[in-house]
Amino acid sequence: MTKDNLELHPRRAAPQRSDFLWGASTSSFQIEGAAHLDGRADGIWDVYSRPPGRVKNNDSGEVACDHYHRYADDVALMRELGLNAYRFSIAWPRVLPQGRGAPNETGLTFYDRLIDALLKAGIEPWVCLYHWDLPQALDDLGGWQNRDIAGWFADFAALIAHRYGDRVKRFATFNEPGVFTLFGYGFGWHAPGVADKAALFKAIHHVNLSHGAAIDVLRASVRDASLGAIHNRQPCYPCTDSPADAAAALRFAAYWNDAFPSPQHFACYPPDVAEAVAPYVQPGDMARIARPLDWFGLNHYSPHYIKADANLIGASFGAPPDDVPRTAIGWPIVPDAFRDTLLDINARFRLPIYVLENGTAADDKFDDAGQIQDDSRIAYLKAYIEAMQQAIAAGADVRGYFVWSLLDNFEWGAGYSQRFGIVYVDYATQRRIPKASARWYADMIAAQRNREVPAPRGNRMESG
Ligand code: FCB
Repeated sequence: MTKDNLELHPRRAAPQRSDFLWGASTSSFQIEGAAHLDGRADGIWDVYSRPPGRVKNNDSGEVACDHYHRYADDVALMRELGLNAYRFSIAWPRVLPQGRGAPNETGLTFYDRLIDALLKAGIEPWVCLYHWDLPQALDDLGGWQNRDIAGWFADFAALIAHRYGDRVKRFATFNEPGVFTLFGYGFGWHAPGVADKAALFKAIHHVNLSHGAAIDVLRASVRDASLGAIHNRQPCYPCTDSPADAAAALRFAAYWNDAFPSPQHFACYPPDVAEAVAPYVQPGDMARIARPLDWFGLNHYSPHYIKADANLIGASFGAPPDDVPRTAIGWPIVPDAFRDTLLDINARFRLPIYVLENGTAADDKFDDAGQIQDDSRIAYLKAYIEAMQQAIAAGADVRGYFVWSLLDNFEWGAGYSQRFGIVYVDYATQRRIPKASARWYADMIAAQRNREVPAPRGNRMESG
């Protein structure tokens, strides 16, 4: 956005719709623990984290935040903060230990208890089917590289829909397919640790097919279902003025931003990706993928600065310019890029938008009073929420904001070294200690409630 059109996007907040949701997000592998209890089998992250040196400090998801046992306290905490909604994911290896076949009743009852506790607390459950924990038994059969996975995923979706669809209406198929395919099958940085061009493009196409298959199942099985997928999306700026970096940034954006939303919404792949997935696409596939959706789920933290590289997509992450402020772990802080991303999504996809992840890691330390005064996180959240409100004032149909994350948790390759929670977790005792940002978030939610206007008439939750 240039200075000229700031007039069009005034720096003032619009009144809040009364159905606007303020929430928090987590994921199963990052918080549950109980990795080998009550019938849960290995997932790819259990196996990937086992050899020393893969995850920082050789951390694992074995215990994590022990949410499996402490979910009731965690729900009580959410209630105290005044959250309207909570997004979590279902651990596929907990409910279907072999990925298909016999379900694990004990695992299924954990989510019954969690969902019932949320509803009792007046918090709307948002379920994401897949937040990166594929059953190892399916990876042994090729995982996302095997086209049969579309059927396995649809069967998993059917199990979840029939079990919880009476109480849960909001379902997302995938969390950040652009990240787990590129990092897990292209760069080898995430489970299952594969770095291979064919593997990457097979995985991309099969994840898209699985998305379409699961949407059909959810739509047919859950009355009043409200369905979407959760995409990472951010501007990809070239690191330098060189034509090579400019071309790399465009190429990277095609994979990162469009390899999933374009087929899912418009039944086509961006040109670079289309050529690479062509060998795996069968007649009728694009129609199977592009199923009607109710909302666009966005995860956004910062823009990317991209440079040319000899790797398998010809582009990689570079350093931001020196004058761009950064978080404690070096992620650029550019709230305007968030506002522009929301406006861009609004214009392209013409669906209600839910921000399903935004937040920051910080260098959280206890002060003398035993509190964590995480001012840098508060400043980040404030700036990003203001940017969202500018986008809303300029016409973006944003209906909810979920902070990442409720709790400090297992941050993939960084293990427990990066703390993204608004609530501190003392991993030695599993004590939860709300940080200053949690109190700030609760106060902000309460204050926003006073600025509400009724949702436009005739709009169901998502239509409109
Ligand atoms: C996102 C992931 C989430 C968490 C945050 C920090 O990419 O969806 O699990 O790791 O980043």
